[in-house]
Parts: sequence; C-alpha cells; structure tokens
Amino acid sequence: MSSKPIFLGINIDHVATLRQARGTSYPRPVDAVTMVEQAGADSITVHLREDRRHIQDFDLAEIKAVMRTHMNLECAVTDEMLAIAVSTAPSDCCLVPENREELTTEGGLDVAGQIDRVRDAVQHLSASGIRVSLFIDPDPAQLDAAVAVGASVVELHTGRYADTSGDEQAGELRRVVKAAQYGDDLGLVINAGHGLNYNNVAEIAAIARIVELNIGHSIISRALFDGLPAAVGEMKRLMTQARGE
Ligand code: PXP
Repeated sequence: MSSKPIFLGINIDHVATLRQARGTSYPRPVDAVTMVEQAGADSITVHLREDRRHIQDFDLAEIKAVMRTHMNLECAVTDEMLAIAVSTAPSDCCLVPENREELTTEGGLDVAGQIDRVRDAVQHLSASGIRVSLFIDPDPAQLDAAVAVGASVVELHTGRYADTSGDEQAGELRRVVKAAQYGDDLGLVINAGHGLNYNNVAEIAAIARIVELNIGHSIISRALFDGLPAAVGEMKRLMTQARGE
C-alpha cells in the first residue's frame, strides 16, 4: 500500500442531467459543490459538452463563485470551448474527445494523431494560466504525444478497465499501471478516471503514481439511494402536516 495521498475530483455533471431531463431549475449543480467539498472532494469536475446535454454555460460561473477547491473543466478541442475555458478561467482544463452520438466520453483524445491542433490548444490555455490535462488512453504513444504538445498533466481513461472483467480486466489494469509508470517517468502528472465505481476503484487507487481520480456517475447514483429515505420522509411530513394531523 502506498502512503502517498490520492485526491478525488468529483464530476457533478449528472446533477445537471437530472435537471435537464425535466427542464426545471433544480437540482442545481452549484448546490452540490459545498456538500461534496465538505465531504472530501479535492476538486470539482464539470464537462461542458457541445450539445449542452447536462452542464450549461451559466453553471460554470455559479459553481466557480462558491467553490473552495479547484475547478477542472472538461471540454472538446474546439474554438468555442477553448474561448469558454479562457473566460471561465478554471485552474485546470482537461481536453477530451467528443462525439455527439456517444452516451459518454468513449475513448481517449488521439493526441498523437493531431499533434499540431492539440499543441495549439495547450499553448492557448497555458497562456491564460490554465493547467492543461489531456484525457488519453493508457497508451505509451499517447503519453509521448502529451509531452510533445507541452501538456503537464494527463488523465488516463479507465473506461476499458471498468467495462471488462476477469482476465481481460486484469490486462486492462496492467495497461493502466504501465502507463502511469511510463507517464510519471516522463514527468507528467498522472490522473485517471471514467467508469470507476465502488467495486472497481480500489485497484486503480492503489497505483501509487496516480495523483487524482475523477469520478462522477457512480457517486451521484449512490447519493440518490443514500438520500432517498430522507427525501421520502420529508415529503410525507409536509403532506401530513398540511392535513393538520
Ligand atoms: N474523466 C473524464 C475526462 C470524463 O469525461 C468523465 C465523464 O464525464 C469522467 C472522468 C467521469 O466518469 P464517470 O462519470 O464514469 O465517473
């Protein structure tokens, strides 16, 4: 077991998913910020997708105004998103690939296949004082490319590890371990995330070279059930009180 600390970045996108599903004003991601920070979050991650399916532009300013930790803004490498990142000024910006049809971010950013484009984006964000992270597959060629474009941080995509089982999962875990080692030796800060949940996080968290994990869906899902008894009880109380009982 490693004695190095490991940090938890909480992705609160899916609070907004619930709001957008009904077009209501609640639940608001900003209302989750202080709660998750007080519970131990070391950073707050939000993904402003091009289709605005969950987080909206106004959420960014609201979240930034109340948060005490640091913001990790995930976005695609487009002119629109880079301009929003610069004006939002998060401490970190994680560049991700984006495909409108996908349910979630399905693979890592192909940095090696678009060196010039990613280098320009890294320079543009870095010039505004934003630390840039690249969300990449645990692949040495992508780690080399991350160094070549001047990124200081990478987030290793753990989706394949999370989606597999048995020998296949053991192989994926080895890929993540090796990538973390390789990237750390190159001088990159190594984060990881995607698909991590209460059953599969321990093996990834045990990799000493990893600094921070970004986790969203499983935590928001779990919170739903942890909060359900209190939510039902309060509604029943209000109804009963209205009848003067
Ligand atoms: N890291 C990145 C770069 C992501 O795009 C996402 C999903 O938005 C996550 C981490 C969190 O993944 P999950 O919701 O599966 O925990």
